[in-house]
Amino acid sequence: MTRGTLPLFDMVPRITFMVVVSVLAYLIFSIVIASDSLAPSLSTNQFGKIAVIGGVLYDVKATAAEYVEGSSVPGAVVGSVGGVGLNMVASAAHVLANIPGAARPLLYSVVGDDLFGSQMVDAISRTGVDASGVLICKTHSSAMFISLGDVHGELMNAVADTAILDDNLGEHIAGSRHELGSMKALLLEMNLMPEVALDAIRHAPDAFIALEPVSVPKAGRIVTILEQGVSVDVISPNTIELDAILAGVDITDLSTNATVHTKADALLERFPTLASVLVTAGADGVYLVTREGMQHRPARDVVQRVDSTGCGDAMVGAIVAAVAQGLCDWTAGDVGGCLDEGLDAAALVLQSTESAVGKYH
Ligand SMILES: Nc1ncnc2c1ncn2[C@@H]1O[C@H](COP(=O)(O)OP(=O)(O)OP(=O)(O)O)[C@@H](O)[C@H]1O
Ligand SMILES: [Mg+2]
Repeated sequence: MTRGTLPLFDMVPRITFMVVVSVLAYLIFSIVIASDSLAPSLSTNQFGKIAVIGGVLYDVKATAAEYVEGSSVPGAVVGSVGGVGLNMVASAAHVLANIPGAARPLLYSVVGDDLFGSQMVDAISRTGVDASGVLICKTHSSAMFISLGDVHGELMNAVADTAILDDNLGEHIAGSRHELGSMKALLLEMNLMPEVALDAIRHAPDAFIALEPVSVPKAGRIVTILEQGVSVDVISPNTIELDAILAGVDITDLSTNATVHTKADALLERFPTLASVLVTAGADGVYLVTREGMQHRPARDVVQRVDSTGCGDAMVGAIVAAVAQGLCDWTAGDVGGCLDEGLDAAALVLQSTESAVGKYH
Protein backbone atom coordinates (compact mmCIF):
# COMPACT_ATOMS: atom_id res chain seq x y z
CA MET A 1 0.00 0.00 0.00
CA THR A 2 1.40 3.45 -0.97
CA ARG A 3 1.34 6.45 1.38
CA GLY A 4 -1.75 8.66 1.07
CA THR A 5 -4.10 5.93 -0.06
CA LEU A 6 -6.69 4.69 2.42
CA PRO A 7 -8.14 1.28 2.82
CA LEU A 8 -11.65 0.99 1.41
CA PHE A 9 -13.32 0.79 4.86
CA ASP A 10 -11.52 4.06 5.82
CA MET A 11 -12.93 5.73 2.71
CA VAL A 12 -16.58 4.75 3.36
CA PRO A 13 -17.35 7.64 5.80
CA ARG A 14 -15.68 10.08 3.40
CA ILE A 15 -17.73 8.79 0.42
CA THR A 16 -20.92 8.91 2.52
CA PHE A 17 -20.04 12.47 3.56
CA MET A 18 -19.49 13.49 -0.08
CA VAL A 19 -22.77 11.86 -1.18
CA VAL A 20 -24.66 13.66 1.60
CA VAL A 21 -23.02 16.98 0.69
CA SER A 22 -23.84 16.47 -3.03
CA VAL A 23 -27.47 15.60 -2.26
CA LEU A 24 -27.79 18.66 -0.03
CA ALA A 25 -26.17 20.87 -2.67
CA TYR A 26 -28.54 19.45 -5.29
CA LEU A 27 -31.56 20.08 -3.05
CA ILE A 28 -30.50 23.66 -2.30
CA PHE A 29 -29.82 24.24 -6.01
CA SER A 30 -33.28 22.83 -6.98
CA ILE A 31 -35.02 25.01 -4.39
CA VAL A 32 -33.25 28.11 -5.73
CA ILE A 33 -34.15 27.19 -9.32
CA ALA A 34 -37.75 26.41 -8.36
CA SER A 35 -38.22 29.68 -6.47
CA ASP A 36 -36.70 31.48 -9.44
CA SER A 37 -39.12 29.87 -11.86
CA LEU A 38 -41.98 30.72 -9.50
CA ALA A 39 -40.92 34.33 -9.36
CA PRO A 40 -42.54 35.45 -12.65
CA SER A 41 -45.94 33.97 -11.77
CA LEU A 42 -45.84 35.43 -8.27
CA SER A 43 -44.93 38.82 -9.65
CA THR A 44 -47.93 38.60 -12.01
CA ASN A 45 -50.71 40.39 -10.22
CA GLN A 46 -53.00 37.49 -9.28
CA PHE A 47 -54.45 39.77 -6.62
CA GLY A 48 -57.22 40.98 -8.90
CA LYS A 49 -58.18 37.89 -10.90
CA ILE A 50 -61.77 38.25 -12.00
CA ALA A 51 -64.16 35.90 -13.74
CA VAL A 52 -67.21 36.79 -15.78
CA ILE A 53 -69.86 34.12 -16.28
CA GLY A 54 -72.19 34.75 -19.16
CA GLY A 55 -73.20 34.39 -22.74
CA VAL A 56 -71.41 34.97 -25.98
CA LEU A 57 -73.55 34.78 -29.07
CA TYR A 58 -73.47 35.34 -32.76
CA ASP A 59 -75.62 38.28 -33.72
CA VAL A 60 -77.12 38.37 -37.22
CA LYS A 61 -78.95 41.55 -38.20
CA ALA A 62 -80.97 41.51 -41.41
CA THR A 63 -82.51 44.64 -42.85
CA ALA A 64 -85.25 44.09 -45.39
CA ALA A 65 -85.75 46.62 -48.19
CA GLU A 66 -89.44 45.75 -48.33
CA TYR A 67 -91.90 43.18 -46.99
CA VAL A 68 -93.62 40.70 -49.26
CA GLU A 69 -95.59 37.98 -47.53
CA GLY A 70 -94.31 34.45 -48.25
CA SER A 71 -91.38 35.68 -50.32
CA SER A 72 -87.72 36.49 -49.84
CA VAL A 73 -86.81 40.13 -50.36
CA PRO A 74 -83.53 41.95 -51.04
CA GLY A 75 -81.75 43.41 -48.05
CA ALA A 76 -78.56 43.67 -46.01
CA VAL A 77 -77.31 41.01 -43.59
CA VAL A 78 -74.52 41.68 -41.07
CA GLY A 79 -73.07 39.24 -38.54
CA SER A 80 -70.98 39.97 -35.44
CA VAL A 81 -69.94 38.41 -32.17
CA GLY A 82 -71.78 39.78 -29.15
CA GLY A 83 -73.49 38.92 -25.88
CA VAL A 84 -73.65 40.49 -22.44
CA GLY A 85 -70.94 38.19 -21.06
CA LEU A 86 -68.50 39.19 -23.81
CA ASN A 87 -69.38 42.90 -23.49
CA MET A 88 -68.67 42.86 -19.75
CA VAL A 89 -65.45 40.85 -19.88
CA ALA A 90 -64.09 42.92 -22.80
CA SER A 91 -64.53 46.04 -20.70
CA ALA A 92 -62.80 44.40 -17.73
CA ALA A 93 -59.94 43.40 -20.03
CA HIS A 94 -59.61 46.99 -21.24
CA VAL A 95 -59.18 48.26 -17.66
CA LEU A 96 -56.79 45.47 -16.69
CA ALA A 97 -54.64 45.95 -19.83
CA ASN A 98 -53.58 49.33 -18.41
CA ILE A 99 -52.47 47.89 -15.07
CA PRO A 100 -48.95 46.43 -15.20
CA GLY A 101 -48.89 42.73 -14.35
CA ALA A 102 -52.66 42.44 -13.93
CA ALA A 103 -54.06 39.01 -14.73
CA ARG A 104 -56.40 38.83 -17.74
CA PRO A 105 -60.07 38.41 -16.85
CA LEU A 106 -61.44 34.93 -17.31
CA LEU A 107 -64.67 34.24 -19.19
CA TYR A 108 -66.81 31.21 -18.42
CA SER A 109 -69.15 30.49 -21.30
CA VAL A 110 -70.09 27.81 -23.82
CA VAL A 111 -69.84 27.96 -27.62
CA GLY A 112 -70.63 25.38 -30.29
CA ASP A 113 -68.08 23.34 -32.24
CA ASP A 114 -69.00 25.25 -35.38
CA LEU A 115 -67.91 28.19 -37.55
CA PHE A 116 -69.56 30.72 -35.24
CA GLY A 117 -67.99 29.14 -32.17
CA SER A 118 -64.47 29.47 -33.58
CA GLN A 119 -65.14 33.10 -34.53
CA MET A 120 -66.34 33.72 -30.98
CA VAL A 121 -63.23 32.17 -29.41
CA ASP A 122 -61.11 34.32 -31.78
CA ALA A 123 -62.97 37.48 -30.81
CA ILE A 124 -62.70 36.66 -27.10
CA SER A 125 -58.95 36.14 -27.32
CA ARG A 126 -58.49 39.33 -29.38
CA THR A 127 -60.08 41.38 -26.60
CA GLY A 128 -57.35 40.30 -24.15
CA VAL A 129 -59.64 37.92 -22.29
CA ASP A 130 -58.53 34.56 -20.91
CA ALA A 131 -60.70 32.19 -22.99
CA SER A 132 -59.66 29.05 -21.08
CA GLY A 133 -63.06 29.00 -19.36
CA VAL A 134 -64.93 28.84 -22.68
CA LEU A 135 -66.22 25.32 -23.23
CA ILE A 136 -66.56 24.09 -26.82
CA CYS A 137 -69.67 21.94 -26.93
CA LYS A 138 -70.22 19.31 -29.64
CA THR A 139 -73.89 18.64 -28.99
CA HIS A 140 -75.34 22.12 -29.50
CA SER A 141 -74.88 24.88 -32.06
CA SER A 142 -73.55 28.25 -30.92
CA ALA A 143 -75.97 30.69 -29.33
CA MET A 144 -77.43 33.02 -31.94
CA PHE A 145 -79.62 36.06 -32.09
CA ILE A 146 -81.19 36.74 -35.46
CA SER A 147 -83.20 39.88 -36.04
CA LEU A 148 -85.08 41.20 -39.04
CA GLY A 149 -85.70 44.92 -39.23
CA ASP A 150 -87.04 47.37 -41.75
CA VAL A 151 -85.09 50.20 -43.36
CA HIS A 152 -86.29 52.61 -40.63
CA GLY A 153 -84.54 50.52 -37.97
CA GLU A 154 -87.80 49.08 -36.57
CA LEU A 155 -87.61 45.48 -35.41
CA MET A 156 -89.92 43.20 -37.43
CA ASN A 157 -89.00 39.87 -35.86
CA ALA A 158 -86.21 38.23 -33.91
CA VAL A 159 -85.23 34.78 -32.70
CA ALA A 160 -82.81 34.06 -29.84
CA ASP A 161 -81.40 30.53 -29.56
CA THR A 162 -79.49 30.23 -26.28
CA ALA A 163 -80.17 26.52 -25.63
CA ILE A 164 -76.42 25.81 -25.59
CA LEU A 165 -76.02 28.07 -22.55
CA ASP A 166 -79.19 26.95 -20.78
CA ASP A 167 -78.28 23.26 -21.19
CA ASN A 168 -74.52 23.31 -20.56
CA LEU A 169 -73.40 26.27 -18.49
CA GLY A 170 -74.59 24.75 -15.20
CA GLU A 171 -72.49 21.62 -15.59
CA HIS A 172 -69.53 23.63 -16.86
CA ILE A 173 -69.65 25.89 -13.81
CA ALA A 174 -70.04 22.90 -11.47
CA GLY A 175 -66.84 21.51 -13.01
CA SER A 176 -65.03 24.81 -12.42
CA ARG A 177 -65.96 25.29 -8.74
CA HIS A 178 -62.38 24.89 -7.55
CA GLU A 179 -61.08 27.74 -9.76
CA LEU A 180 -64.00 29.99 -8.86
CA GLY A 181 -62.92 29.76 -5.22
CA SER A 182 -59.67 31.56 -6.02
CA MET A 183 -61.26 34.54 -7.79
CA LYS A 184 -61.09 38.03 -6.33
CA ALA A 185 -64.33 39.02 -8.09
CA LEU A 186 -67.17 37.33 -9.97
CA LEU A 187 -69.48 39.13 -12.37
CA LEU A 188 -72.58 37.20 -13.41
CA GLU A 189 -75.24 38.18 -15.92
CA MET A 190 -78.84 37.11 -15.51
CA ASN A 191 -79.05 35.16 -18.74
CA LEU A 192 -77.75 32.50 -16.33
CA MET A 193 -80.30 30.32 -14.60
CA PRO A 194 -80.52 31.42 -10.93
CA GLU A 195 -79.38 27.98 -9.71
CA VAL A 196 -76.22 28.23 -11.85
CA ALA A 197 -75.47 31.70 -10.48
CA LEU A 198 -76.10 30.49 -6.92
CA ASP A 199 -73.73 27.55 -7.40
CA ALA A 200 -70.97 29.92 -8.57
CA ILE A 201 -71.58 32.44 -5.76
CA ARG A 202 -71.52 29.73 -3.09
CA HIS A 203 -68.18 28.44 -4.37
CA ALA A 204 -66.52 31.85 -4.30
CA PRO A 205 -67.16 32.91 -0.69
CA ASP A 206 -64.29 35.44 -0.62
CA ALA A 207 -65.00 37.04 -3.99
CA PHE A 208 -66.60 40.42 -4.66
CA ILE A 209 -69.93 39.39 -6.24
CA ALA A 210 -71.68 41.53 -8.87
CA LEU A 211 -74.94 40.73 -10.69
CA GLU A 212 -75.99 42.38 -13.96
CA PRO A 213 -79.78 42.12 -14.56
CA VAL A 214 -79.51 42.23 -18.42
CA SER A 215 -83.15 43.00 -19.20
CA VAL A 216 -86.58 43.54 -17.67
CA PRO A 217 -87.74 39.90 -18.18
CA LYS A 218 -84.49 38.51 -16.65
CA ALA A 219 -84.19 41.04 -13.79
CA GLY A 220 -86.51 38.97 -11.57
CA ARG A 221 -83.78 36.32 -11.35
CA ILE A 222 -81.88 38.69 -9.07
CA VAL A 223 -84.75 38.44 -6.58
CA THR A 224 -84.61 34.62 -6.72
CA ILE A 225 -80.87 34.77 -5.96
CA LEU A 226 -81.12 37.34 -3.17
CA GLU A 227 -83.98 35.40 -1.55
CA GLN A 228 -81.48 32.59 -0.91
CA GLY A 229 -79.59 34.88 1.47
CA VAL A 230 -76.26 34.78 -0.37
CA SER A 231 -73.95 37.81 -0.06
CA VAL A 232 -73.98 40.06 -3.10
CA ASP A 233 -71.77 43.16 -3.20
CA VAL A 234 -73.50 45.01 -6.01
CA ILE A 235 -76.32 44.71 -8.53
CA SER A 236 -76.29 46.98 -11.59
CA PRO A 237 -79.82 47.63 -12.93
CA ASN A 238 -80.72 50.50 -15.20
CA THR A 239 -83.76 52.48 -14.06
CA ILE A 240 -86.37 50.24 -15.66
CA GLU A 241 -84.67 47.05 -14.48
CA LEU A 242 -84.68 48.52 -10.96
CA ASP A 243 -88.47 48.83 -11.22
CA ALA A 244 -88.71 45.26 -12.53
CA ILE A 245 -86.68 43.96 -9.57
CA LEU A 246 -88.90 45.87 -7.15
CA ALA A 247 -92.00 44.47 -8.85
CA GLY A 248 -90.80 41.01 -7.86
CA VAL A 249 -90.42 42.00 -4.22
CA ASP A 250 -93.19 42.39 -1.72
CA ILE A 251 -92.67 46.06 -0.80
CA THR A 252 -95.97 47.85 -0.35
CA ASP A 253 -95.10 51.33 0.95
CA LEU A 254 -93.29 52.50 -2.20
CA SER A 255 -94.97 55.09 -4.39
CA THR A 256 -94.63 54.57 -8.15
CA ASN A 257 -92.74 57.86 -8.61
CA ALA A 258 -90.28 57.26 -5.78
CA THR A 259 -86.70 58.40 -6.37
CA VAL A 260 -83.86 56.07 -7.34
CA HIS A 261 -82.50 56.52 -3.80
CA THR A 262 -85.78 55.46 -2.15
CA LYS A 263 -86.21 52.47 -4.47
CA ALA A 264 -82.66 51.22 -3.98
CA ASP A 265 -82.94 51.78 -0.21
CA ALA A 266 -86.08 49.62 -0.17
CA LEU A 267 -84.12 46.81 -1.82
CA LEU A 268 -81.24 47.12 0.63
CA GLU A 269 -83.70 46.97 3.51
CA ARG A 270 -85.49 43.94 2.07
CA PHE A 271 -82.23 42.05 1.42
CA PRO A 272 -79.73 42.37 4.29
CA THR A 273 -77.07 40.41 2.34
CA LEU A 274 -77.11 42.92 -0.54
CA ALA A 275 -74.46 45.62 0.00
CA SER A 276 -75.07 48.15 -2.79
CA VAL A 277 -77.17 49.06 -5.80
CA LEU A 278 -75.55 50.71 -8.82
CA VAL A 279 -78.28 52.29 -10.94
CA THR A 280 -77.27 53.32 -14.45
CA ALA A 281 -79.40 56.11 -15.82
CA GLY A 282 -78.26 56.68 -19.41
CA ALA A 283 -77.43 60.35 -20.05
CA ASP A 284 -78.08 61.09 -16.35
CA GLY A 285 -75.04 59.06 -15.35
CA VAL A 286 -74.92 56.64 -12.47
CA TYR A 287 -76.18 56.39 -8.88
CA LEU A 288 -74.57 54.23 -6.22
CA VAL A 289 -76.76 53.52 -3.21
CA THR A 290 -75.40 51.84 -0.08
CA ARG A 291 -76.63 51.76 3.53
CA GLU A 292 -74.46 54.83 4.13
CA GLY A 293 -76.22 56.94 1.48
CA MET A 294 -76.25 57.75 -2.21
CA GLN A 295 -73.59 59.10 -4.56
CA HIS A 296 -74.32 60.38 -8.06
CA ARG A 297 -71.80 60.76 -10.90
CA PRO A 298 -72.74 62.51 -14.16
CA ALA A 299 -72.10 60.75 -17.45
CA ARG A 300 -68.94 61.72 -19.31
CA ASP A 301 -69.26 64.47 -21.90
CA VAL A 302 -68.75 62.92 -25.30
CA VAL A 303 -68.31 64.50 -28.71
CA GLN A 304 -70.70 62.16 -30.50
CA ARG A 305 -73.21 59.65 -29.14
CA VAL A 306 -73.30 56.82 -31.67
CA ASP A 307 -75.09 53.91 -29.95
CA SER A 308 -75.72 53.36 -26.24
CA THR A 309 -76.23 49.58 -26.57
CA GLY A 310 -73.81 47.85 -24.23
CA CYS A 311 -72.89 50.99 -22.22
CA GLY A 312 -74.23 49.45 -19.00
CA ASP A 313 -72.37 46.18 -19.62
CA ALA A 314 -69.13 48.10 -20.21
CA MET A 315 -69.68 50.13 -17.06
CA VAL A 316 -70.17 47.19 -14.71
CA GLY A 317 -67.35 45.15 -16.32
CA ALA A 318 -64.90 48.02 -15.82
CA ILE A 319 -66.07 48.72 -12.26
CA VAL A 320 -65.72 45.12 -11.12
CA ALA A 321 -62.22 44.87 -12.65
CA ALA A 322 -61.27 48.11 -10.89
CA VAL A 323 -62.64 46.90 -7.55
CA ALA A 324 -60.70 43.63 -7.86
CA GLN A 325 -57.49 45.55 -8.56
CA GLY A 326 -57.98 47.76 -5.52
CA LEU A 327 -58.48 50.98 -7.52
CA CYS A 328 -61.07 51.87 -4.89
CA ASP A 329 -62.32 50.50 -1.58
CA TRP A 330 -65.92 49.62 -2.36
CA THR A 331 -66.86 48.37 1.09
CA ALA A 332 -65.41 51.50 2.74
CA GLY A 333 -67.46 53.74 0.41
CA ASP A 334 -64.35 55.11 -1.29
CA VAL A 335 -65.64 54.28 -4.78
CA GLY A 336 -64.51 57.22 -6.94
CA GLY A 337 -61.61 55.46 -8.71
CA CYS A 338 -63.83 52.57 -9.73
CA LEU A 339 -66.81 54.65 -10.87
CA ASP A 340 -64.39 56.69 -13.02
CA GLU A 341 -63.29 53.51 -14.82
CA GLY A 342 -66.94 52.57 -15.36
CA LEU A 343 -67.88 55.99 -16.74
CA ASP A 344 -64.87 56.01 -19.08
CA ALA A 345 -65.68 52.53 -20.43
CA ALA A 346 -69.36 53.43 -20.98
CA ALA A 347 -68.32 56.59 -22.85
CA LEU A 348 -66.06 54.55 -25.15
CA VAL A 349 -68.95 52.27 -26.12
CA LEU A 350 -71.34 55.21 -26.52
CA GLN A 351 -69.04 56.73 -29.13
CA SER A 352 -68.61 53.53 -31.11
CA THR A 353 -70.79 51.40 -33.39
CA GLU A 354 -69.65 48.33 -31.40
CA SER A 355 -71.48 47.28 -28.25
CA ALA A 356 -68.27 46.31 -26.44
CA VAL A 357 -65.03 48.11 -25.65
CA GLY A 358 -62.26 47.29 -28.13
CA LYS A 359 -64.23 44.37 -29.49
CA TYR A 360 -62.19 43.98 -32.65
CA HIS A 361 -58.71 44.99 -31.46
N1 LIG B 1 -77.21 58.98 -23.93
C1 LIG B 1 -76.16 58.92 -23.11
N2 LIG B 1 -75.42 60.03 -22.87
C2 LIG B 1 -74.35 60.01 -22.06
N3 LIG B 1 -73.95 58.90 -21.41
C3 LIG B 1 -74.64 57.77 -21.58
C4 LIG B 1 -75.79 57.71 -22.45
N4 LIG B 1 -76.28 56.46 -22.44
C5 LIG B 1 -75.48 55.74 -21.62
N5 LIG B 1 -74.50 56.53 -21.09
C6 LIG B 1 -73.45 56.13 -20.13
O1 LIG B 1 -73.46 54.73 -19.99
C7 LIG B 1 -73.85 54.34 -18.67
C8 LIG B 1 -74.72 53.11 -18.71
O2 LIG B 1 -75.76 53.27 -19.65
P1 LIG B 1 -77.27 52.82 -19.47
O3 LIG B 1 -77.84 53.43 -18.27
O4 LIG B 1 -77.89 53.07 -20.78
O5 LIG B 1 -77.07 51.25 -19.21
P2 LIG B 1 -77.94 50.00 -19.73
O6 LIG B 1 -79.34 50.38 -20.00
O7 LIG B 1 -77.70 48.91 -18.75
O8 LIG B 1 -77.19 49.63 -21.08
P3 LIG B 1 -77.03 48.17 -21.77
O9 LIG B 1 -77.98 47.23 -21.12
O10 LIG B 1 -77.33 48.44 -23.23
O11 LIG B 1 -75.60 47.80 -21.59
C9 LIG B 1 -74.53 55.57 -18.09
O12 LIG B 1 -74.44 55.58 -16.68
C10 LIG B 1 -73.75 56.69 -18.75
O13 LIG B 1 -72.54 56.92 -18.06
MG1 LIG C 1 -77.74 46.75 -18.92
